[in-house]
Amino acid sequence: MNYTVMIPAAGSGKRMGAGQNKLFLKIGEHSILYHTVSVFKEDPNCEEIIMAVKPEEQAVIEEILQPHQHVKPITFVKGGGERQNSVAACISAYKGKSIVLVHDAARPFLNSAIITKLVHTANEKGAAIAAVRAKDTIKYADGGTVKETLNREKLWLVQTPQAFQYELLKKASDLAIQEGFLGTDESALVERMGYEVQVVEGSYDNVKMTTQEDLAIGEILLARRK
Ligand code: CTP
Ligand code: MG
Repeated sequence: MNYTVMIPAAGSGKRMGAGQNKLFLKIGEHSILYHTVSVFKEDPNCEEIIMAVKPEEQAVIEEILQPHQHVKPITFVKGGGERQNSVAACISAYKGKSIVLVHDAARPFLNSAIITKLVHTANEKGAAIAAVRAKDTIKYADGGTVKETLNREKLWLVQTPQAFQYELLKKASDLAIQEGFLGTDESALVERMGYEVQVVEGSYDNVKMTTQEDLAIGEILLARRK
């Protein structure tokens, strides 16, 4: 089943502390951004890529992705101040009606099996997110004091990709903006409308490159893939 992917890539990577957009940092021979887009370039079901970028970075991004551009059309849109605004810009640029996937440019190690599962589940049920089970015990604390130990059996660490029927995502995004709600993922926007979101078990490899330690993990993951 075909889908379009929306990739927010307009962040600044503050927590990485590299003094530049972390997506330009290399893992092995290629940048994080190149690795992420490669997965979609190689997936025959991916029809189109819509990417939110900072205008001043678009030229260098186009250069990085030039080998991909020949294979798959990439539409660039202007990113916003928050991740949610960048995704909203992608949503506005979309012209079709199929299933849409939102995926962080900062997660280069997703696999196509997860994409397939997500797209099918979203087509059937409306919304599906990739997540892995929490390995650690998670506690709710307030002001440094534990208030509750949560039941680990029911806890999931949520990633992207997240897949949606387009109309549902559009409605959720529009409503959130209208009501001034800022979420850290698209699922939260859909959940707050009372809509059920399905969890699809993902992979621990699908790490978001956030701090320097993640780059070292990235090198290991890349070596293992080869
Ligand atoms: N992103 C975006 N627009 C923003 C902020 C983030 O498109 N205004 C993108 C990032 O480029 C990244 C994804 O959203 O691909 C996930 O965000 P995150 O990992 O938080 O990246 P940054 O915001 O760049 O990093 P930091 O929060 O450490 O500054
Ligand atoms: Mg951020």
